[in-house]
Amino acid sequence: MRWSGVVPHDNAYFPRKKLTVVGSGNVGATAAFLAAYKELGDIVLLDVMEGVPQGKALDMYEASPILGYDVNVKGTQDYADTANSDVVVITAGIARRPGMSRDDLLATNVKIVAEVTANIVEHSPDCIIIVVTNPLDAMVYTAKQVSGFCRKRVVGMAGVLDSARMRSFIAQALDVSITDVSALVLGGHGDNMVPLTRYSTVGGIPLTDMMSKEDIDNISERTAQGGAEIVQLLKTGSAFYAPGAAVVEMAEAILKDQNRILPCAAWLEGEYGINNYFMGVPCKLGGGGMEGVIELDLNKQEKTAMKTSLTSVKELVKQVDNMGIFS
Ligand code: NAI
Ligand code: 2OP
Repeated sequence: MRWSGVVPHDNAYFPRKKLTVVGSGNVGATAAFLAAYKELGDIVLLDVMEGVPQGKALDMYEASPILGYDVNVKGTQDYADTANSDVVVITAGIARRPGMSRDDLLATNVKIVAEVTANIVEHSPDCIIIVVTNPLDAMVYTAKQVSGFCRKRVVGMAGVLDSARMRSFIAQALDVSITDVSALVLGGHGDNMVPLTRYSTVGGIPLTDMMSKEDIDNISERTAQGGAEIVQLLKTGSAFYAPGAAVVEMAEAILKDQNRILPCAAWLEGEYGINNYFMGVPCKLGGGGMEGVIELDLNKQEKTAMKTSLTSVKELVKQVDNMGIFS
């Protein structure tokens, strides 16, 4: 059997999308697998651990005949393989263990995220970066400083995860389908995050009409401690299935230009009275990245909660600045 008339595929006009995930640990590998399954594009998985991204990528590719997805998945240590990515997800770094807060990770992870960002920018100068590494609000700041990208092209993943946790707890408590539950968590990705119960609904009905204040408060508290709850159970690391899914929801919104409205850590330039800090706010996420911030009319209590959350974010950013790595 011979093929005739086959010319090399010129994909200049219809290029496949390319997604790089840096860090092939729990979150990175889960995100890469889900992204492959959803055929978001060709996937590159990069890690400093020799063989690990290669092994996981090969394993994912070998699952494709069974699951029916048709994309390339490549594992590597070499940033040249990430060249011209459309979206790059940064999960590289260390994760929490019991007794550690997200903030305890700062000193180690800031150096990793700075190095990773510099490499990404060199090989994919036009990409959009989604930062996952903790402490999230300080790491996304680090990526923005090192990349020099405009705010549209650097976002942090936290609100999608925190809101998903809140949705899960509401659906469980009311014994209703998760598909009918909508929730919104803003602020930084720490103990002071801001679950906005006033903007949470069940089948379009305000949550406040469906549950007592005490039950809503308990759910808000469990949401804020959602990461720690998983760490306590796992003992050797932190959550990865829901975080991986959250990353893929954001990456899909960008790669498919969906114009989704999702809570993301966005660089604020006056919105919510905040200047030059990343905070979790509702954003429009599409082909251009973070295409806009939606400013809600917060009440007094919600404004106070955002202010408290911002204080924690500022403290983290100060620690990063004091490390003097951007000079
Ligand atoms: P993990 O330990 O399973 O994976 C981290 C990977 O990063 C490891 O494979 C490691 O070899 C790799 N790595 C370390 N330095 C690197 C470098 N310089 N270049 C490339 N790769 C490097 O950790 P896991 O569970 O995947 O979590 C990753 C990060 O994401 C942690 O900081 C964790 O706290 C954070 N996280 C953030 C969430 C959020 O909502 N923003 C949710 C869940 C996790
Ligand atoms: C989480 O919320 C550890 O930030 C991570 O699960």
